[in-house]
Amino acid sequence: MSAAEEIKTYKNIPDVDGLPLLGNTLEMAKDPAALFLRAYRDYGPVYRVNVFGRKQIVIAGREAALFMSTKKGRESLRSREFWEPMREFYGASKMLTREDGEVHQRLRGVMRDGFSREAVRGRYHELAATIDDSISSKWKTGSEAPVVEAFQYMIVQELGEILTGSAPLEYVRDIRVNILYILNVLVTQVRPRFFLGLPEFKKANKRVEELSRDMIIEFKAHAEKGTLPNNLLGDIMRAHIEHPDLVPETDLSLLLTGPYVAGLDTVANTLAAAVYGILRTPGVLERVQKEADALMAKKTITEDDIRELIVIGGCIREAMRMWPIAVAQMRTATQDFEFEGYLIPENEKLYIGTSVSHFMEEYFPDPEVFDPDRYLDENAQHMQPGVYSPFGRGPHTCLGQNLAEVLMGMTIARLFHRLDMTLESEDYILKTKSFPTPGPAMDFKVKIKGERMPADKLIPEA
Ligand code: HEM
Repeated sequence: MSAAEEIKTYKNIPDVDGLPLLGNTLEMAKDPAALFLRAYRDYGPVYRVNVFGRKQIVIAGREAALFMSTKKGRESLRSREFWEPMREFYGASKMLTREDGEVHQRLRGVMRDGFSREAVRGRYHELAATIDDSISSKWKTGSEAPVVEAFQYMIVQELGEILTGSAPLEYVRDIRVNILYILNVLVTQVRPRFFLGLPEFKKANKRVEELSRDMIIEFKAHAEKGTLPNNLLGDIMRAHIEHPDLVPETDLSLLLTGPYVAGLDTVANTLAAAVYGILRTPGVLERVQKEADALMAKKTITEDDIRELIVIGGCIREAMRMWPIAVAQMRTATQDFEFEGYLIPENEKLYIGTSVSHFMEEYFPDPEVFDPDRYLDENAQHMQPGVYSPFGRGPHTCLGQNLAEVLMGMTIARLFHRLDMTLESEDYILKTKSFPTPGPAMDFKVKIKGERMPADKLIPEA
């Protein structure tokens, strides 16, 4: 047989064993990361799960994470289908997360500076004051603070003041409800469409519409007066004026409220997981407090100071490893392509299980242990490219990654500097939720025993 006549044979994609009718739905609802890991162990890097009445191919592990950033990966995967119902719902012409190729690159270009860590450079004293303000309303001494919710308020306040100039705190509940329904019904589709007719969603959605309408009016007024601020929203409005093809009127509402959708659950869940890890793991709290106290003793804090937080940085990385907010990325195959000896057919909807390697002994010894020191150079021999992907992989990697890292570093440092906290009980085990964004359950609480340090003010950078 000549080379041209040779027919390529591919491996069969195995179906993951599951329950009759329900397939893997219960496992997926309970702990998607555990399902993807078990299946990877049992079947290898490609398998098919049966979840929520749909059969879907998963490509998983380090191989899949690396594939997403390759030329072939970029050409073979697109995001459109998963975000299309959301785009349609809002009547927008495009969405950052939905687009690929040139339009996607242009949109990222518009938002790159606003979402970067430069947005908060030189403003750490303001950030500390924002965190203190949030502490005084949601983390009161003697109370049991609902950690995820308290962080949701804190991050809206932080993002609002840093990225947009004001924080819409009276809308936090509406933003949360809105995200919950939109992601569950329109993106992950784990809830039926009629949920969007429920009064709770309709009310929240109306309020978020009101918020974005007010934001548009405010920023248009700035544009007319020539006083558009140098922040994310200023950049979006400038792009709307200069490139209406890229940022038309119809897209403003989603773009202006976008930072909250992108940052609220992701940051709140990660910070809550970090708080749990710090309070639950012997010896870690004291080290975090020492590092936080040393940082706050500086009085003027710079970005470098935050990036040098070894213990706190390690705790945040561990939180993102053990409780990743994006267990898998959702994509569609743009063409037939081969992956690890399997043929993935065109138009197939895929989960890319990039977090599977977070839980593998081969890369993270004792993966169930919260160990902030595992990222130190001397301990990181086991780490290899592609094994750690909390911010995703490929063209859609988190645009807010650097900003999120400094915000989270400062927030944990300020919180543990200021407050003396404990878990409800020494042996408390964290419960988790899976949808719309995996993370600690909403009923996770910590006891606020008292204030360790007063809310003294930081001094702005000269
Ligand atoms: C712990 C914090 C965060 C984590 C773990 C995280 C994780 C992620 C992941 C995994 C993706 C990729 C999704 C995909 O490929 O389908 C993503 C995308 C994105 N994130 Fe984050 N994120 C965090 C915080 C933030 C914050 C604070 C912002 C901005 C306020 C932000 C803005 C974005 C944007 C704009 C995208 C879309 C990028 C694109 O489609 O090109 N993220 N994030």
